[in-house]
Order: sequence, then C-alpha cells, then structure tokens
Amino acid sequence: MNEKLTSNSYSHAKLDVIKDKKLNYVIKTFDHDLSRVSKNILKQKQFSNKMFGSTSLISVPITEITKHSKKISIKMPYIDGLNGSDIILYSHRSNFISFLNFIESYFLESFKKIDYKNIDSSILLKKVDDIYSNMQFKISISEKVIINCINKTKNFTIPIGDCHGDFTLDNIIMGNDGKFYLIDFLATYLETPLQDFVKLKQDTIYGWCVRKLSKSDQTKASVFFDKIKALPILKKIEIEYTREVKILNLISLLRIAPYVRDKITENWLVYNLNKVSRDL
Ligand SMILES: Nc1ncnc2c1ncn2[C@@H]1O[C@H](COP(=O)(O)OP(=O)(O)OP(=O)(O)O)[C@@H](O)[C@H]1O
Ligand SMILES: [Mg+2]
Repeated sequence: MNEKLTSNSYSHAKLDVIKDKKLNYVIKTFDHDLSRVSKNILKQKQFSNKMFGSTSLISVPITEITKHSKKISIKMPYIDGLNGSDIILYSHRSNFISFLNFIESYFLESFKKIDYKNIDSSILLKKVDDIYSNMQFKISISEKVIINCINKTKNFTIPIGDCHGDFTLDNIIMGNDGKFYLIDFLATYLETPLQDFVKLKQDTIYGWCVRKLSKSDQTKASVFFDKIKALPILKKIEIEYTREVKILNLISLLRIAPYVRDKITENWLVYNLNKVSRDL
C-alpha cells in the first residue's frame, strides 16, 4: 500500500499509511512551500461535496492537521479503490465507462456556476515572470517569446469558479464503494474550471501521466485518452475558450519547469512547450 503511495509522488510530500482503531489513514507530510500548502489544505476542506445523478463526489476529509515549525502533516482516511490512471491502464472497461461519465458530469457541473471576468494580461505576465525566476533548468523557449504570445491578446474573458487546481488522473480515486474522491487540491493564481480542463488535457492528451511508461502501455492509454478527448463537454470547452485554453495550457506546462528532475520529464516538457507555443 505504502509503495503505491510513494511511487506516484512527484511533489516533495511524504506519504505514509497508518492503522488507527482498525482503520487505515494516510499521513501526508509537507516540508516545502508551507504557506501554499496551507491554502491547498483549506481548499480540500472547503470543497462542497456533490451528487451527479446517483454518483457522489467527495473531497477526502482531512481529519487532523499537525503544524510543526518547518512541516505540516495532514491525516485523512485511506480510500480503498483505484485512481484514474489505474482505471485507464489496468482496470475493467466498466470502470472506465463510469470514470468517463464522472469526468463529463464534473465539468458540466463546474461550468454551471461561473462568473465571467475580464482578466488583464498582467496577471498572466506576472505568473510567467515568477516561473522564469524560479527555473531550475534552461528551457528552450525564452520568456520573451511567451510574453509576446500573451501580449497578442490584451483581455481574456475567464470563467471564474470552483476548480480543484491539479485535476490529474492520480488525484481522482474511484472508491470501491462507487463514490469518486478528490485528493491533492491546489490553490492557483486564477480560480477557474479552465485550470482543471488544461490539467486533465496535460495529463492525458499530452501524456504527462504516461510519460515514463512503456510504449505498449502508452498505446493502450491513448485509446482511452481519445475517448476522454471526445467527451461532449470537453469539446465544447475547447471550442468556446480556444484562446484562453491555449494560454493557460502554456502557463500550466511552464509551471512544471521549476520541478523538473529527470531527462524524461525534461524531454516531455520541451516537446510539449514547443508544440503549444507553435500553435499560439
Ligand atoms: N487518502 C488516500 N486514499 C487512498 N490513496 C491515496 C490517498 N492519498 C493519496 N493516495 C494515493 O497516493 C498518490 C499520491 O498522493 P497525492 O496525490 O496526495 O501525493 P503527491 O505526492 O502530492 O502527488 P503529486 O505528485 O500528484 O503532487 C495518489 O495518486 C493516490 O493514489
Ligand atoms: Mg497527486
């Protein structure tokens, strides 16, 4: 159980499973960027659970928060089930269909409660600047190119509303009880369901979650990714917010750059950044 938890981890967090009064709990300990971590924890706690027809969507409850001077630990129940990437690669087709239905309902619901806001491009430019200042390795696209791309559009109309912030397959668990659970929330500089859209796209269509897998697993996953891509709500979002999606996509990819630690990830990132920026 523990092995599965740690092997998926890309952030600095440490995950342990403990038994308490015969129940399993996950203890997640953070020792980096603690003010950001506190915001993420709050987001997970404040998420209002939802019902889509007979399907429940639950944010995994945080039952305990322990703060030390340089660490924060959270305790939450261990959810027995499969995460999205398990479902896509190793699970029965019926689970995959439930998963697809969940994705469709999730985005339908998120885009129901939105307020349109004109966002000044300076918010995006500031984010780009922050990313480039924290860059650990040199990426092949200069900050100037990105700034020029953003400057082609002065105003962006963004649908402001609830988002998870890091809506990847590994952060969605389909419980053995049939309920869907969200973990690992992320506070973002722009709270819009479009962030979830671009994250899911990055994870699946661009293949973040399969970048280190064998060619045959990648091929297997791509069959399902095509089905995700074809979901009506996702096609609609792509058409309705083409320009905004392109820019948020680019920034979302750039946000990975400060955390790159291996060659496969670096190659994956450079390839996709080039692809996305060519298309702007
Ligand atoms: N409460 C939980 N119940 C069951 N599985 C969990 C739970 N919390 C985490 N996991 C498993 O551990 C994996 C990593 O957890 P989590 O996403 O919280 O960590 P992370 O290190 O922040 O990962 P990331 O690299 O996505 O930031 C999840 O994908 C999931 O499979
Ligand atoms: Mg995660």
